[in-house]
Amino acid sequence: MRHSFKLPGTVEWKNGELYFLDQTMLPLETVSEKQETAEQVWDSIKRLKVRGAPAIGIAGAYGLVVGMRNKQVLPASLFIEELYKCAEYLNSSRPTAVNLSWALNRMVNKAKVSGLADSAALYDLLVQEAESIHAEDRAICDGIGKYGAELIREGCGVLTHCNAGALATSGIGTATAPLYTAHLQGRRFRVFSDETRPLLQGSRLTSWELQRAGIDVTLICDNMAASIMAKGEIDLVIVGTDRVAANGDVANKIGTLGVAVAAKHFGIPFYVACPSSTVDLDTALGGDIEIEERDAEEVTSFGAKRTAPDGIKVCNPAFDVTPNELVTGIITEKGIIKAPYKEALINMFRK
Ligand code: MRU
Repeated sequence: MRHSFKLPGTVEWKNGELYFLDQTMLPLETVSEKQETAEQVWDSIKRLKVRGAPAIGIAGAYGLVVGMRNKQVLPASLFIEELYKCAEYLNSSRPTAVNLSWALNRMVNKAKVSGLADSAALYDLLVQEAESIHAEDRAICDGIGKYGAELIREGCGVLTHCNAGALATSGIGTATAPLYTAHLQGRRFRVFSDETRPLLQGSRLTSWELQRAGIDVTLICDNMAASIMAKGEIDLVIVGTDRVAANGDVANKIGTLGVAVAAKHFGIPFYVACPSSTVDLDTALGGDIEIEERDAEEVTSFGAKRTAPDGIKVCNPAFDVTPNELVTGIITEKGIIKAPYKEALINMFRK
């Protein structure tokens, strides 16, 4: 697809070197940071310099490449042993988005089943596989855009939460893919972007990238969403997801559940957009998904300013789970899935 705007370049692999756009600096600065070691990649994922489910899968895949670069001197059997260890280590950076373990497993399996007995050749294979994961993600976003754009009517209002945008992928995003595609098709519509406390991905990232692409976007605080819906401004909600359980329950950024409940109350369709790598048929129910708990400081401060009393008790889950009965449909690169989800997900994604 031809874009009339430049995609942000979330993860870049240039001349054998890995770069992440440091998303913690946006929207004030666009800084690309070279990643030299697996430890640095782990830290970048943990600190959300690179974030969003598909992007951390891609980052993890290249992280393995970076981590294995110095291991090419080892015999192949030891190289594979080290590869397992490095994958396990990178996977420990964040637990909720299944795309990370999906990408790491894909990388390790590629090397394992190759039968190659030369570590340099195994390393080259890892580079190729990471590049494939990266390129496929771009095409997958276009597929989500193609199916999802049909939901965007001329003049409609769309609410989104967090950032499931270009910054969270290597293409036009997941939740934003229908928006970018409809925009390129010439439709006019309004987007409302939830600010997304505590780390403000909606304000710092989604508003930034949609505005940059020339899409009509209005930033709202999270606690305004229900009232904007009540005023009749929202025709459709589209969010991303970090993991879809086999029954269609979806984990996404904390606050998504509240948006889904409000949408149900007002009779507004609530769609979830994701690539097939986010569907986890091995996790039966949303309640089985591990929810990342993050540092209290993210809640007790706003930016650099402390906004809570010392010693206050804090709860900071990074994600919540929306039950499948609140989900109108799941937009994937293979089409839009509707309930009953268990059957639909198995039919579409069973290997
Ligand atoms: O903590 P984050 O910023 O990584 O959370 C991201 C989200 O919740 C996104 O909605 C999700 O990963 C989908 S990204 C296409």
